[in-house]
Amino acid sequence: MEADPNSVTEAASYRSAVAQEVVAPLTRAAIFLVVTINEGPESPVVVRTLCGDLAGLVRAVESRDIEAGLSCVMGIGSEAWSRLFGGARPANLHPFREIRAGKRHAVSTPGDLLFHIRAKRMDMCFELATQIMARIGDAVEAADEVHGFRYFDDRDIIGFVDGTENPRNEAAMEAVYIGTEDPGFIGGSYVIVQKYLHDLAGWNALSTEAQERIIGRKKLSDVELDDSVKPTSAHNALTTIEEDGREVKILRDNMPFGRAGSAEFGTYFIGYSRAPGRIEQMLENMFVGRPPGNYDRLLDFSRAVTGNLFFVPSATFLEDVNEEALPVAAHSALPGVGRATSPIDPGVEGSLGIGSLKGEIEHE
Ligand code: HEM
Repeated sequence: MEADPNSVTEAASYRSAVAQEVVAPLTRAAIFLVVTINEGPESPVVVRTLCGDLAGLVRAVESRDIEAGLSCVMGIGSEAWSRLFGGARPANLHPFREIRAGKRHAVSTPGDLLFHIRAKRMDMCFELATQIMARIGDAVEAADEVHGFRYFDDRDIIGFVDGTENPRNEAAMEAVYIGTEDPGFIGGSYVIVQKYLHDLAGWNALSTEAQERIIGRKKLSDVELDDSVKPTSAHNALTTIEEDGREVKILRDNMPFGRAGSAEFGTYFIGYSRAPGRIEQMLENMFVGRPPGNYDRLLDFSRAVTGNLFFVPSATFLEDVNEEALPVAAHSALPGVGRATSPIDPGVEGSLGIGSLKGEIEHE
């Protein structure tokens, strides 16, 4: 799609915002840290200070091994948004909506902030998580912390390659970053996380063919099952969704985790999207079924024990937060005000125009 010449001024005013590094290369290690913010007026002040300092903290840890590909995405929950910033809100930010259907339950659990920390080395992830907690530890309680590892050839703990159908490059950016549909929050994103525990003994008791029919792909080769043999309840069938006749994607970076001694085997699901409704639709299809009753059999062997939805503001927004004030972008309900990005609405076609996401953060 060609940019509308009338939007050139708008385009120019958008260019200075930079997104957080949601679209990051696959890494060997990740930490998913979810915290709640304590009561009291001081706690939000401490967290706001971290927002402004986070990029600097990441740079400091990153400098210890520049090859390790360290990144950190910070997400903010619905209630926390009001406490931290008040005022303008991202259009689709709301608490995680739990789903109950039969024995299946997508639980909603406490969580005000998410830190999704990725690197090739766990020690880098751990160092950053430690530095973050050193800053905000007195103002928050950890609700959940999962240390994930990449398992063999990008397989999840149930033995299937996970992430194959993720969108790449431009398509990934289009899938995750908000465009002009929410002008005050361009370059932001939404993220849903769920921690799943598997009945691995039960899963492993199935034949490989039965497992393949549940996932919808071949286990060894990772090739998708032909539609003539793939059940409509297959995981990859129920999570394929369309809007206005067009398939829409989300970006996942699931990680296995576990404790062999406690027979704990898990998948940490993390899905990013410019519209949380897409992930919610997939969850509905999985838990309730499409049509209802035709649910995802993966859930007969997997139980969600956490569930949260967060908004991921742009990196520019975070950098502009100080302990008292709201960043300009959050006051901006109109295009062309504040420091948002893309002139092009990628919901239709074309590029977000956000550009490279790393190393472009404007430093003070
Ligand atoms: C128990 C947790 C989960 C496991 C072990 C799991 C595993 C997998 C595997 C093995 C695939 C096939 C390979 C691929 O394309 O990545 C897949 C695909 C997919 N999953 Fe999951 N998944 C889980 C939960 C979820 C949830 C909660 C959602 C969304 C709400 C989801 C969304 C998707 C999507 C969108 C695809 C790609 C479908 C396609 O375009 O073919 N998954 N998942």
